Order: sequence, then structure tokens, then C-alpha cells
Amino acid sequence: MSTLLERIHSRAAVVGIIGQGYVGLPLALVFEAAGFCVLGFDVDPLKVEALNRGESYIKHIGSERVAAAGGRGRVTAPADIDRRRDCDAVLICVPTPLGRHREPDLSYIQSTAREIARRLRPGQLVVLESTTYPGTTEEEVLPVLASTGLGCPEDFLLAFSPEREDPGNARFSTRTIPKVVGGVNPASTEAAVALYGTAVERVVPVTSARVAESCKLLENVYRSINIALVNELKMTFDRMGIDIWEVIEAAKTKPFGFTPFYPGPGLGGHCIPLDPFYLSWKAAEHGIWTRFIELAGEINTSMPRWVVQKVMHALNEEGKSARAARILVLGLSYKEDIDDDRESPSYEIIELLQEVGARVDYCDPYFPVARPGRKHDIGLRSVACSAEVFATYDALVVATAHARFKDPALYRRVPLVVDTRNIVREHPEGPRRLVKA
Ligand SMILES: NC(=O)c1ccc[n+]([C@@H]2O[C@H](COP(=O)([O-])OP(=O)(O)OC[C@H]3O[C@@H](n4cnc5c(N)ncnc54)[C@H](O)[C@@H]3O)[C@@H](O)[C@H]2O)c1
Repeated sequence: MSTLLERIHSRAAVVGIIGQGYVGLPLALVFEAAGFCVLGFDVDPLKVEALNRGESYIKHIGSERVAAAGGRGRVTAPADIDRRRDCDAVLICVPTPLGRHREPDLSYIQSTAREIARRLRPGQLVVLESTTYPGTTEEEVLPVLASTGLGCPEDFLLAFSPEREDPGNARFSTRTIPKVVGGVNPASTEAAVALYGTAVERVVPVTSARVAESCKLLENVYRSINIALVNELKMTFDRMGIDIWEVIEAAKTKPFGFTPFYPGPGLGGHCIPLDPFYLSWKAAEHGIWTRFIELAGEINTSMPRWVVQKVMHALNEEGKSARAARILVLGLSYKEDIDDDRESPSYEIIELLQEVGARVDYCDPYFPVARPGRKHDIGLRSVACSAEVFATYDALVVATAHARFKDPALYRRVPLVVDTRNIVREHPEGPRRLVKA
């Protein structure tokens, strides 16, 4: 343990990061910037090759940062999995999706734990970063590592530290976002705190891995429930002829006790639509029904259907039917100005519109071609983002608030815009009709 701490403080420690996605890649870059040699592992050979060429496959991270780190010679992406033995610290950033019945899919964590166990050596620190239910580190990872005959904390150390990424946020970065850390024992917490303390501005130790796991879920459940609340209020106020966006702007002026959340076409990304159900699944084991989580899930997942209803109703008022109407959905990304379309509600909106017979296209400069995902494969290519193209559609549905879509000139000759993000303004030249949804 003292050797590990010395190696951390002297930057002689080698940091291995398993999973070089939206979480693992920026983490690799902050440890490199802190002076460590970093090995970035991924099962996707395209990512490994790109990293070794000094290229980023995530737009908001940028190839300059990856190239600069690669140029200093401290970051590599080894194809050889046995290089994990060279690592003093191994950080796990693999996916934690839901299964078909909304049950946690821990298969990535479990297989990664087995791969680490095969190469585990005394003196290593292992940290799980993937979002998961309380107890995963102790119940799923610890027994696999301990099955090698090595013990924690005498031989290896094990902790949980949740990632808090906000892709595209210019105010906060991996280095400046405080990092919560909880070990399965005090020695593990101490080692993990020492490691992260070299690379991020503030480390927040907690008493156990379970508290750290729960902290991440509290943060994500909080968002999911508050978004569901404004989505419910959006539907309520809509029926009353009141604009929820104006209401939120007014409420925001209260200087205390109010945090604004915004409605939308449904949840997206790898966190908020999925993580709360990790907790509800685990809670059931303890005889608890997490009703807030379920209710928020029900409201948020019904949003694409509500948006499609609004589109059909608006077309109807124009004397048109959704069947055979030409509809353009703006945005595949789940969030503005990033190239992440995981769990994006746009796909469901497109499919629901197709189900009622509409001829649907999409426009998203971040996705020239729609790639097949876990649940959807729409097989479409983006149309050009121009007023001429937009004017050829019966209706536009704004699903993502990309900066590019905020140009009023784009909507001048459009007959109908259904805006789920409140970015299109009334203008004498068009759109002819604007509906908020
Ligand atoms: N994306 C976010 O904003 C965010 C924020 C906070 C937490 N998280 C959590 O972090 C975890 C990772 O999320 P992400 O967004 O980085 O996912 P991602 O899909 O972008 O990245 C995961 C990477 O792991 C790789 N991988 C899978 N199995 C592997 C294995 N056995 N060995 C090596 N590599 C493997 C995949 O190829 C992929 O590149 C999830 O648990 C997620 O909930 C994500």
C-alpha cells in the first residue's frame, strides 16, 4: 500500500482505464495531464486505432486534445489485454445498460472483473466508475477479484467512484467536477482518494462504496423526477393554454428554493433514462417499491407519444392527415451540440410517425447517417440543414436544440413547426404556424 501511494505521488504509477467511451476517454486525458502514463483499453478496435493515431471519435473532446496527449507519449491504447498487469490502478468505465425487461445488465462489469482478476497482482488498485446499484462493487466485483486468492486490502484495493460527465458543458470539465470516492474498506478509500486527488480539483471521500454508488443514483433520480414533473406540468398547462416555458422563466426569478428543469420530447443519454431503474430493481430485493422512480419513468417515456399526438393534431388543424404527410425531425442527439444519440427520443418519434403512415426524414449535422443502435435502426441519412429543404415539408418537429437550429431564417417558409425545445420564435415570415410540444 505504501508503495502504491508513493508511486501515485511520484506519478510513477501507471493508470489503466478500461472502456474508452464518453467517460473513459476524458478520464484518460486528465490523468495524462496530471503526469501519469495511461493505458486506455477498449474492446472496439476502431477506438483503439483512433487513439493510437491521436484522433478523437467524440466530437466535443476534440482530436487536438487527444493528439497533444499522444504526442507527449504518455497515452497509448494497447490491443494486448495482458498490459493490464502493468497498471498500478485499473479504472473500469464500461457500459451499464438495461436488459429487455428493464433489468440491470451487469454483463460488461462482470466480464471486465473476470479479465482483471486473471491478471490481478499485489499492489493494484481497482476502481469501478460505471453507474450501478448500491452493492455492486462489494457483491459483484470483490468476490471475483478475491477468488484469485488475493485479499483486500492486504493485497489489492477496491473502490467505487462515480463519473459526473456533462458532455459539451463549457463551464465544467472532468478535472473541475468534484469526484466522490468510497472504498470497500478505509485503505481502499485512502488509495483511491490519493489517486484522484492528483488529477481532479476536489475529491469527496465517503465511508463506503455503497454510499458512493447511491450518491450517483440520487443525482440521476433527482433529475429524472424533476424532468418528469415539468413534463407533467407542460401537458397540464398546455391544456389550459399556458406556456410552461414562460412559467419556468418567471419561477426562475425566485432567488432561493427553486431549481429550473425543462420539459422535452423524452429522456436521452446513457444515464437518466437508465440508471434510476438500477435502483428500483435493487430496491425490490429489499421489499421496497420506488414509486417516484416508476412514475417519473412512466411520464418521461410517454413524451415521444405525446409529441406525436401534438403533431397529428396540428396537421389535422391544417386540414392535413399524418398519413403521407412529409415530416422532418430536427435532431438525433439527445442533447444540444453533441454527437451522442444514445437512448434519444428522436428515434421513437420518427418510428411513431412512420407507424401512422408519415414520410419521415431527419436533419442532424452531427449524424450525416443514422447509425443502428441497441433498439432502433431507422436506416436514414440526414437531409441538408437549409431553408430551401425545410420548406418542402408539411411539418418540422424540433427534437434537439442544436445551435444550428436556432437560426430563424431556417423556418421562414415552413408551414408548421412543432417545437419541443422552445427554440423557434414567431416571425412574420414564418413558420406559418408554431406549436410548442
Ligand atoms: N456518458 C455519460 O455522460 C456518463 C456520465 C456519467 C456516468 N456514465 C456511466 O459511465 C459508464 C460508461 O458510460 P459511457 O458513456 O462512457 O459508455 P460508452 O459506451 O461511451 O463507453 C464504454 C466503452 O467501453 C467499451 N467496452 C465494453 N466492454 C469492454 C471490455 N470488456 N473491455 C474494454 N472495453 C470495453 C466499449 O467498447 C465502449 O467504448 C456507464 O456506466 C454510464 O452509466 C456515463
